[in-house]
Amino acid sequence: MAHPEITPEPDLRHHGDAEVGAGYVDLAVNVRLAPMPGWLATPLAESLAQLSAYPDDRAARAAVAARHERASSEVLLTAGAAQAFTLVAQGLGVRTPLVVHPQFTEPEAALRAAGHEVRRLVLPPPFVLDPADVPDDADLVVVGNPTNPTSVLHSARTLERLVRPGRVLLVDEAFADTVPGEPESLAHRRDLPGLLVLRSLTKTWGLAGLRIGYLLGRPDLLARLRAVAPLWPVSTPALAAAIACSSDQARRAADEIAVHLVEERAHLVSSLRTLPGVQVAGEPSSSFVLVRLTGAARVREQLRLLGWAVRRGDTFPGLGPDWVRVAVRDKATTDAFVDQLRAVLRGVLT
Ligand SMILES: Cc1ncc(COP(=O)(O)O)c(C=O)c1O
Repeated sequence: MAHPEITPEPDLRHHGDAEVGAGYVDLAVNVRLAPMPGWLATPLAESLAQLSAYPDDRAARAAVAARHERASSEVLLTAGAAQAFTLVAQGLGVRTPLVVHPQFTEPEAALRAAGHEVRRLVLPPPFVLDPADVPDDADLVVVGNPTNPTSVLHSARTLERLVRPGRVLLVDEAFADTVPGEPESLAHRRDLPGLLVLRSLTKTWGLAGLRIGYLLGRPDLLARLRAVAPLWPVSTPALAAAIACSSDQARRAADEIAVHLVEERAHLVSSLRTLPGVQVAGEPSSSFVLVRLTGAARVREQLRLLGWAVRRGDTFPGLGPDWVRVAVRDKATTDAFVDQLRAVLRGVLT
């Protein structure tokens, strides 16, 4: 049984990128590390010739809309998915927002920065959401699917049950394309009033530095967010990326990547399960897994001495010092990591 609670959280603005740097193998940030495909690199490079003009987002909105079988007026492009949290916090005039935790901390940070008091629904392991635990009076509910950092995928049916008159349901689908076929995505759903679906193009396509994401929802809701958005929030290269990443070719490529990820994740999970005292949380469904082990904070420090960066868990509400998040990488990297972790767990620094 989960309990809503209000507690201050001092470190909501800690993100995994603070834990990596030169010399570390990066298992802390959930951005895919792979060479950029030509179908993305070419239009990105070509867009540089248009930088003297202000960005025109019409073609990119149309491309994203077509990809999700929606109208252009149902798409709001943002400077990374992260910007959407600020727009939602500032533009909707909500009074009783609730964030389902553990999850990405930026929605709550943005809401608090905009002056809102935020309620939390903290799910205990295995982080399964029961819609009945969400208070009826919440006029904004923020939930991730699949959720960072738990890697848990909620069913579309569960999320649909959160829709209410007078409520905005913001489903953060930044990692939806890591699930083959995206069976639980609500991105195409036009029948659910108050639904906003948030997508990111920075994860699978390795574009964290470019900043491109988007919201999908009813035009009246998006108009309220557009009204508080900065002028030209998305650069011309980011618009070019949005077009390229919405093509059928990109969609097929994303699905192939997701299918391969399932294998790589299974390898990581089964390898981790051979280690004493290591528990993999829930049923991981995305490009990272959440791990519980006693003394994780100390283990993480020792791994850093060996050049391995994993994401601390204690900055996520609902987790604590015994949790770390580990990105799914190729099998060779996983094998090397698990060997080092085994050695650290034995108390031997190799
Ligand atoms: C769940 C989740 N949503 C949104 C974002 C923001 O992504 P973007 O790079 O598109 O701003 C992140 C980034 O880590 C994330 O983990």
